[in-house]
Amino acid sequence: MAALDCHDIADLRAAARRRLPRGLFDYVDRGCDDDRGLARNRAAFDAVSFAPRALRGIAERSTQTTLFGRTLAFPAAIAPMSPAGLLWHEGEGALAAAAREAGIPYTLPTESMTPLAAIAAAMGGAPWWFQLYLWADKAESLRLVDRVAQAGAEVLLLTVDTTVSPHRAFNHRSGFATPFRPGLRNVADMLLHPRWLAGTMGRYALGTGVPRMLNHPGQPGALGGGGPATKLNGGITWDDVAALRRVWPGKLLVKGILRADDARRAVEAGADGVVVSNHGARNLNAAMPSIAALPAIADEIGRHATVLLDSGIRHGADIARALALGADAVLLGRAVLYGVAAYGQDGAARALALLRHEFDTAMALLGATSPAEITRELVAP
Ligand SMILES: Cc1cc2nc3c(=O)[nH]c(=O)nc-3n(C[C@H](O)[C@H](O)[C@H](O)COP(=O)(O)O)c2cc1C
Repeated sequence: MAALDCHDIADLRAAARRRLPRGLFDYVDRGCDDDRGLARNRAAFDAVSFAPRALRGIAERSTQTTLFGRTLAFPAAIAPMSPAGLLWHEGEGALAAAAREAGIPYTLPTESMTPLAAIAAAMGGAPWWFQLYLWADKAESLRLVDRVAQAGAEVLLLTVDTTVSPHRAFNHRSGFATPFRPGLRNVADMLLHPRWLAGTMGRYALGTGVPRMLNHPGQPGALGGGGPATKLNGGITWDDVAALRRVWPGKLLVKGILRADDARRAVEAGADGVVVSNHGARNLNAAMPSIAALPAIADEIGRHATVLLDSGIRHGADIARALALGADAVLLGRAVLYGVAAYGQDGAARALALLRHEFDTAMALLGATSPAEITRELVAP
């Protein structure tokens, strides 16, 4: 089976599940605790239905949109996701190349395994973004921000919903927690998935060695840990957003906002907008779905600031749902990660092509000829 035999994101997820060790697949696929937050994210999307407009003459239409002065082929960017380089050999480069070809930005995470210059090269002048975790050592964090600016990232996303590491019991049971410690269970799991073992880890072993968090300072962090300097900073406050604003020359988004008052504070601290997100239900299982939080946030800041949304998008119609409720664009998370896990760049490209096609279809069936025409009046009461 090849990427082109996958006809929706569920097919790509099934292919990823076959290729990856079970514990690694669960690390990507599951949320946290008993996964009810994950189910709630989906239920909240499904609860949004449309009252489409008929006979609007949609033969001529375009999915393109403009974000931060750049034209995007459709209103989306790839979300920052740390394990891409473990799922596929040089998976971050594969995601970046797929994003460039699909005409949307790629977001490189702080906990990435690819040098900044390599991502800049893979994007070849097309826009790419960087996700920042603030570390205990703030001076080191700001040095990283400086390097990111030099490398040419256009947007910095400061993630604020992960001020401590979440506890995910299923990762500890499977042996795929961080830092990774080989044991009977996870080694057996890896041996049972030889396509991943040879195709991903085998290729690293023959080339650059086990991937490391190359963008961590000093001794590049081993998987899942970079020493005390790169411990997550639980003391981070709105003052840090204002401080970042003073040093970061590009656009600044605060990622992980679920409240209108926090969205307002982000803008007051100098951010250009927010990402409404519950981190794909990976952190606080009891957090509300981002799509439910979106309308109030869009009403609060949407007229003068950028509002992006993620957490639960698995279909192009979900992008339309987010736009209708006030988002300017969305971040694509697991929907694209399944693709890269199953087939590398081809799989990520397939995921993006499917999502764009589904979005175009939804747009047409709603009676809209552009993303801007997908407004709240289309949502069924
Ligand atoms: C495996 C995985 C790793 C992630 N790593 C990061 C990260 O390093 N930084 C970050 O801000 N968000 C991270 N996220 C969250 C995504 O950026 C995004 O918010 C989330 O995946 C959206 O939900 P969805 O996957 O249900 O679409 C990660 C998500 C996944 C699935």
